[in-house]
Amino acid sequence: MPELTALCAAHDILPAVADLLPKQAAPDRHYALQFASAAGTGSQSGTLASYAPPAGVRSLWAMAVHGSAPQLQQASDNTLVINAIGVLENHAEQASNCGLPPDTPLAALLLARLNALRADRSLTEALLQLRQQLHGYLAFIVLETQAADQFFICSLGWPLYLGIRNRDLHICTTELALARDIADQIHTVQSGVLLRFGPHGSASLHGDGSEHPLILLAPAQLGKFPHFMLEEIYAQPAILAALAARSQQGLSPVSPALRSDLAHVTHVLLLACGSSFHSAQVASYWLESLGGVTVQVELTSEYRYRDSLPPPQTLVIAISQSGETADTLASLRHTQAQGLSASVAITNTPGSSITRLARHHLLTLAGLERAIFSTKTFTAQLLMLYQLALALGEARGRLGPERLALAKQEMARLPALVNATLQLAPQIREWAQQLAQRHSLFVIGRNMHYPVAMEGAFKLKEVAYLHAEGYPAGELKHGPITMVDSTLPVIACLPWNNHAEKALANLQEVRARNGEIFAFSDAALAPVERLHVIRVPGGLNDLSPIIYTVALQLFAYYCGVARGNNIDTPRNLAKSLSSD
Ligand code: G6P
Repeated sequence: MPELTALCAAHDILPAVADLLPKQAAPDRHYALQFASAAGTGSQSGTLASYAPPAGVRSLWAMAVHGSAPQLQQASDNTLVINAIGVLENHAEQASNCGLPPDTPLAALLLARLNALRADRSLTEALLQLRQQLHGYLAFIVLETQAADQFFICSLGWPLYLGIRNRDLHICTTELALARDIADQIHTVQSGVLLRFGPHGSASLHGDGSEHPLILLAPAQLGKFPHFMLEEIYAQPAILAALAARSQQGLSPVSPALRSDLAHVTHVLLLACGSSFHSAQVASYWLESLGGVTVQVELTSEYRYRDSLPPPQTLVIAISQSGETADTLASLRHTQAQGLSASVAITNTPGSSITRLARHHLLTLAGLERAIFSTKTFTAQLLMLYQLALALGEARGRLGPERLALAKQEMARLPALVNATLQLAPQIREWAQQLAQRHSLFVIGRNMHYPVAMEGAFKLKEVAYLHAEGYPAGELKHGPITMVDSTLPVIACLPWNNHAEKALANLQEVRARNGEIFAFSDAALAPVERLHVIRVPGGLNDLSPIIYTVALQLFAYYCGVARGNNIDTPRNLAKSLSSD
């Protein structure tokens, strides 16, 4: 009888071989695997485990998949491709050649078609050849069923995170947060590397056929900070200084080609979701006042299904930290289908799908954000959008040298003022300790500080799991004021500008209903009954939202800590949602 190799999968895949799996069997080796899609085709996660095989069976693997059905595809008599996911740039051509949809069947068929699985060639050679031929984003596992104690992972276009626990590989994933949850050490492997895992160790296989021990990059260091979120909040002055310095040196991030598109624009459509939507909302004020255009801001989970009719001279600005959020990519495609060709993506991820989809792209260069929540990438988005608004105003002949020089001075002052805001952490922590156990909070602001309040409330929900509503201060009286009493604190952004008088009147309405106000303000306000003030740095006009954002980031962080939350791996959240 020929030796049998079985691969079992959960969810009724291959039910015949699934029976082979002993009911109470404990795997001798198991790996958690998760690949997130680069462009909205979903994500695959699961556990691949090897079991002691029953008599007559050479090896036994089981694949338990969470959330989505596993995909298995035979590439040759003894080769299986598992859970491939991704998007190939040459995908349309490859898929039609193969007559099959992506991703797993495609990867398997490509492997088979390469004719590389010949008797005289090893699977390693075949995979190295396959890797050369694919362009785009793809990750998959390949298992040689007759050498079932080893398997390969091929990843193109994105880095993988390997989580090691007790010196053994426990997870291989494109999602850093997942690895952090499981492992004691995390290592990053650059895209394009073929990894082989087996009982005799792991190796990275290079194109020239040489094998190298896995060069494990330094594990992510928290340094002096207890959480990545806090580390990233404190990284902001340096990042903003680097972005501002480019414009001081006359190095605009806006290319001549983008500048020439800007000269013809009369409308701007901003597309984003989550925190990026709030940076779009802040930017809408700058684009209107500096760029002199009509601005529309849309949530991409909604916009992609709308029959809207943007005017032809619309510039589409799609904002996504990850560059992979499915709704944002779909909305951008939607505008392209409507004939809008002038588009610019703002992202922190070089090579991400959005950079390939938009005509132009601007990188926020904030470095990898390890916390799930956007902090440093959010403020970097804001500064980039500000620079884009200035370029728009300049290209449309609205901003002269004097106005541009003022803007440059603001940008130059910004990093030190953000640093000064960070010095307020002890006071902000005290507020957080006082308020973290409340059932609900309002966060309010006017004008550009209204979306800042929205982002502050969003952070409180994300980090602290605390119900918070962000409102324009002038809207409280139209309904939400009914909820204000001594138990519902109101956090206010109160910059001393030409909206301050109105904002103070709104706060007066809160105090009159026994509401307690916790205001961040650059004014020297004397605290009175039920009005607490933390004085934040002044000296900025356009860029003041960044100061209040940083204060609210710290507040949300300390609320999360006070509530005992797992800050860097919050429940129910993923860094980017690349599926619908
Ligand atoms: C997810 C995250 C949010 C993030 C949003 C948009 O929902 O949990 O924190 O703001 O995606 O992400 P993007 O990468 O498109 O900016």
